[in-house]
Amino acid sequence: MTIKLRKQSIEILKILKKKPAEVFAIDLAGELNIDYIVLMSAINEFIEYDLGGFREEDIYQISLNDEGINYLTNGLPERQLLNILLENKIKEINVDDLLKRSNLDEKIFYIGIANLKKKRWVAQSKASGENKIFIISEEFPQTESERFLQKFEGKTTIDYSSISKDDLKQLDLLNKRKLIKKNRKTQRIVYLTEKGKKIAISKIQELEYISKITPEMLSSGTWRDYELKPFDVTKSGPLLKAGKTHPLVNLINEVREIFLSMGFIEIRGPIIESAFYNFDALFQPQDHPARELQDTFYLKNPKVAKLPEKDRVLAVKKTHETGGDSGSLGWGYKWDENIAKQTLLRPHTTSTTMRRLAQFYRNNEKVPVKVFCIDRVFRNEKLDKSHLAEFTQIEGIVIDDNANLCDLIGLLSEFYRKMGFKKIVTRPGFFPYTEPSMEVTVYYDKLNEWLEMGGSGIFRPEVTYPWGIKEPTRVLAWGQGLERIAMPYYERTDIRDFYINPIKWLREQSYLK
Ligand code: PHE
Repeated sequence: MTIKLRKQSIEILKILKKKPAEVFAIDLAGELNIDYIVLMSAINEFIEYDLGGFREEDIYQISLNDEGINYLTNGLPERQLLNILLENKIKEINVDDLLKRSNLDEKIFYIGIANLKKKRWVAQSKASGENKIFIISEEFPQTESERFLQKFEGKTTIDYSSISKDDLKQLDLLNKRKLIKKNRKTQRIVYLTEKGKKIAISKIQELEYISKITPEMLSSGTWRDYELKPFDVTKSGPLLKAGKTHPLVNLINEVREIFLSMGFIEIRGPIIESAFYNFDALFQPQDHPARELQDTFYLKNPKVAKLPEKDRVLAVKKTHETGGDSGSLGWGYKWDENIAKQTLLRPHTTSTTMRRLAQFYRNNEKVPVKVFCIDRVFRNEKLDKSHLAEFTQIEGIVIDDNANLCDLIGLLSEFYRKMGFKKIVTRPGFFPYTEPSMEVTVYYDKLNEWLEMGGSGIFRPEVTYPWGIKEPTRVLAWGQGLERIAMPYYERTDIRDFYINPIKWLREQSYLK
């Protein structure tokens, strides 16, 4: 079998051949300035060809604790005590005096005294009536413990295995004095086998790993000279940070698909709208509270909007004042064209729906008409977890003969069913421009919650008659909140996320959908 190794592994083999029998993997990696993992993967290649291997060994490391480090710099307590005596030329001293001078902890002081006595450098006697210490030696050479302690000079740790038999006794003594810390570590030791030691480098073939086969390699047959890099299918792929459509756009597309599949056509209208289409055409009186600044953003520029054809403006005016031909009594006030000309950022897409009714009138269209609109609206709202000043509505109408509330319930239920909601509840509601009016609530099983989706109803005659839509032709209408669906859909608890765009969340979004 020819031996094939990667280039780096061959280099490592060369170096190992020059080394003594065994080396610590960590030391070798450090010496070669390569990653430990890289070294071990080379060793694994050696194992495959029986050129080398590794074994694991528990390494005990010895270091001094804080007290030990203190004695390394200041001397063991016995040496500190002796120095006090020698420096002050004291031959005998009261034990308590020495204790005071030494500044040592009492316990440590007595350990020092005990060791001085053991060495026969001092003696202790109470013969004079006082408890006294006497120097009884002339020479005070370095002790074995001191010599051993010195080994830690400039080092934080010593390998247990490097300690000689004699020193082991000293280690034991220092350990008993509680000056030593022990640390166990598992180290890998790498080595070459006899085969590995003997093999000539020239006999080893350099292995090249590739991760791609090119057409050239296939046609020339050189792909056979390479080793294919194995794939680790358990590893996650690199994070792709390419652009993708925004989650809200994905949802809009899904809603769009559903309405298209139900035979609807998409319409769009201006964001900057006239009060006429936004309020007047919807039979909202000109002093209606919803028109006020606190709900609606009015514009200074452009200041006035163009109104539609004169006769339609007149029809709306009449409806407000007297009910016109709608059968209503109207609001009974003097309708002001200038108020209708005010400009605003549309607070709902129902204004776009009204433009579609005007178009229906102008083109003298036939029923049925089924249109929808998914677009941005603006409201003077305080922002919080569930309120935005700028959001999206899903609006739609059906103009048809004898269209009724059951049709509306069926239609909206079908829409929400297609969106994945199983339980839909409709309740009476109120809007100035619909009668009856209806609220839609859906059950979201994941959160165990009922979510209010928006309003709907049948446009009042006061709304449809000015555009020539008269009994038995009726208009079913609805306006639902897109972000209300988006929150459970994307499991966001804060509606602002759709506009603040937390980058982490956006990156987690699928590319598909
Ligand atoms: N325009 C209403 C809103 O913004 C929704 C609605 C539309 C209600 C059409 C009834 C009919 O909440």
